[in-house]
Amino acid sequence: MPPARNRGSRRRSEPAARAGRGAALRELAVQHAALRELIARCQELADELDAGRIEAAPLVDAVTALRSAFDAHSQFEERLLRPVLLSADRPGALPVGRMVHDHTLDHRAMRRGLEPTTSSQLRDVLDILCAHLDAEDRYFAIPDDAAR
Ligand SMILES: [Fe+2]
Ligand SMILES: [Fe+2]
Repeated sequence: MPPARNRGSRRRSEPAARAGRGAALRELAVQHAALRELIARCQELADELDAGRIEAAPLVDAVTALRSAFDAHSQFEERLLRPVLLSADRPGALPVGRMVHDHTLDHRAMRRGLEPTTSSQLRDVLDILCAHLDAEDRYFAIPDDAAR
């Protein structure tokens, strides 16, 4: 059993950790919603480009905006992921270090994919990014309307 002093500080820190986890997950939901809007914009513009209705420039600008938002999101998740996972009940889950490592590799691969040379490559990475966001929402049990 830990010394009494440690038990007291642990009791005080648990509500704070839960509050921090709630705020972090709300911010995660907001960022996911913003990314989904940028993804949808890229998909619309890719359709327009493939149909010959627009030049490439608007799509290039939209992908640049998505890349920028994704970079900021990656930095946020790199700070957030380990403490959130450590504060969660995760029966049967992989070790936290392994999950964080795998997640970092996934983000690096998606970031490389966000430098596409064809609309087909872009569509592939957008699909992967959507699946990644959906998986995170499910994992962290983020409701559909959490960002509103
Ligand atoms: Fe992620
Ligand atoms: Fe995410």
